[in-house]
Amino acid sequence: MAAHKYHKFGLKGLLFVLLLILMFTMIFKNVTRHQGKSQKEVKVGKNMDRWQESFMKQIRQEIEITPIIENMERVQISWQRTKKAEKGLVILLHGCSHDGTHWFSLPEERRIVRVLLHHGLSVIAFTSQDTNSGCWDGSSIGQSNRDIQRVTPTLQKFCEREYSEYYTQETLSMCPPLFSIGASSGGSFSSILSRALPIVANIVQISTGDYKALLTEPKSLKPQRVSSFDPKILESEENIYPVPPTAFLYMVNDHNWASESVIGHVVQKIIASANKLGPNLHRQNAVIMFEAAMLPITKMWLKDRVDNVSKETSEQFYHECVTEGFIDGDGLLKEDPRSSTASRVLLRNAIYEKEISRGALEEQLNVAYAHHELTSEHIYQITTWMLEMLESKP
Ligand SMILES: *[C@@H]1O[C@H](CO)[C@@H](O)[C@H](O)[C@H]1NC(C)=O
Repeated sequence: MAAHKYHKFGLKGLLFVLLLILMFTMIFKNVTRHQGKSQKEVKVGKNMDRWQESFMKQIRQEIEITPIIENMERVQISWQRTKKAEKGLVILLHGCSHDGTHWFSLPEERRIVRVLLHHGLSVIAFTSQDTNSGCWDGSSIGQSNRDIQRVTPTLQKFCEREYSEYYTQETLSMCPPLFSIGASSGGSFSSILSRALPIVANIVQISTGDYKALLTEPKSLKPQRVSSFDPKILESEENIYPVPPTAFLYMVNDHNWASESVIGHVVQKIIASANKLGPNLHRQNAVIMFEAAMLPITKMWLKDRVDNVSKETSEQFYHECVTEGFIDGDGLLKEDPRSSTASRVLLRNAIYEKEISRGALEEQLNVAYAHHELTSEHIYQITTWMLEMLESKP
């Protein structure tokens, strides 16, 4: 009996160890692939998302999304602190026709927020001043930017209230390590914001970022130590922060201003300007690209990605895609859902509306087609990279 028990335990233990080894090699392989290449090369993270999906399922049970939405100095903020050992605070910047609360209500955004919270990163989403267009002020270095002037003092107030313990004579900072993630207009704004605040790493989705903000060389390379954020910092150029490590994510069917080739061109320019500044800046100027491919729609696709969608609805959605000929044999959308009549038929089906909003379904279709949409693709890898940038911070 004892031997039998021992044997069973040993087998389980062995399987567990094997699983751990497998996980570590997967993570390590990806990390080293990014690190191993010289800074002259553009680094592209391809899909390793089957693994990410099983991780997503696991943390869906574990991480509850319970944001606090409030106005601070007349600026709307939506935020949630991590329950894990806190490593930093991530600023979330929406795209046009959205607002900060969507980071906690739409499916892709919720998936991103969950992964960040799981990794010990708290989140704060701002809403742009222009709530008609929902876009951010694009005024860059040397100009006055209304959204910078709102976001920086609000963030300062927020940190003073939430993080008084972080302020010491040593740090002289009232915020924990800061990160920024923006999509589209929010991606451009994220690159501008990253010159106005001490950002550890900047994530720019489906956007080239703002050229001037990404390519203007800093006057001083010393990391700043400041006791307060200057809302007019960008206007003079004197004390702007260096370009932080930046990750770009593009989508394969995004053929216009945020295409792979346009973003690749910007990345080459950042690398060239970093090389000019010297090899020691390697870390500070790390730049990485991620590609979001088309995603196959399967029976459980909608259920697995969107909270509140039942198995039945997910299957029905899939069958409608098949019978109406919206997807090919591999489950890939045949046409751009933004312009196809197919998606209009799908979106008209009121059955789905009980479980998923039209906006959420449109988002999911755009992600499946990989055309200009905020996406949670690669978010696990991106978060790992963000934390790596924190550890190697000069
Ligand atoms: C899921 O359903 C519950 C109950 O109807 C609702 O309160 C919640 O807001 C829904 N969640 C999402 C993300 O739509």
